Amino acid sequence: MSKNIAIDGPSGAGKSTLARRLAAKLGFIYVDTGALYRAIALSMLRRNAETEEQIIGSLPELDVTLQYIDGEQHVFANGEDVSGLIRTPEVTMKASRVSAIPEVRKYLFDLQQNLARENSVVMDGRDIGTVVLPNADVKIFLTASPEKRAMRRWLEMQEKNIVGQTYEEVLADVIRRDEQDMNREIAPLKQADDAILVDTSDLNLEESEKLLLKVCKENLEK
Ligand code: DC
Repeated sequence: MSKNIAIDGPSGAGKSTLARRLAAKLGFIYVDTGALYRAIALSMLRRNAETEEQIIGSLPELDVTLQYIDGEQHVFANGEDVSGLIRTPEVTMKASRVSAIPEVRKYLFDLQQNLARENSVVMDGRDIGTVVLPNADVKIFLTASPEKRAMRRWLEMQEKNIVGQTYEEVLADVIRRDEQDMNREIAPLKQADDAILVDTSDLNLEESEKLLLKVCKENLEK
């Protein structure tokens, strides 16, 4: 029987790094669902699909899939590995917009559920515990203050040499994205009633990982 861990929370809370580490420790597959929305966003930018109608109209021509190469998740759009192209600020903003469209969410729903049915997964996103995997064995809501999240994202961008945005601009983006993700009508970002709240504002990566691993192990054994 596959085991499922759902991790939701706002951008920059450390979800992807922590979920990846957790999956490695538990021998589960890590599924970064944000990458799926980002792959759709990139494809829509390339097609100049601006309006909701244009985006929905382009969906049938899109084939988004995940593959695991050396244990790492790669996302493919119509056969092209776009994993390295989906982390720009432009794709980030577009992903937030496309993810608010019900048809886009529907398009990705089965893909996510099938992965979790066939594999033990740590799946991160915004609506995993509430919508995609409501019966997950463990649900975590991972968060941190907007300032801490913006600072982490900005440092990560410096490391990856993604230049062009100041810390203040990154913070403004974080706040705008929170607003979009939490206030959209469909599958808004919110803590599931049975999710465990983990706030990493005052924890470093190692401390967060330790806490998360403890919480998951305790709840997987229940
Ligand atoms: O986690 P991320 O920053 O890569 O996500 C990109 C966008 O996709 C973000 O604005 C929220 C959206 N998203 C979503 O709506 N549902 C998910 N399960 C994952 C991401």
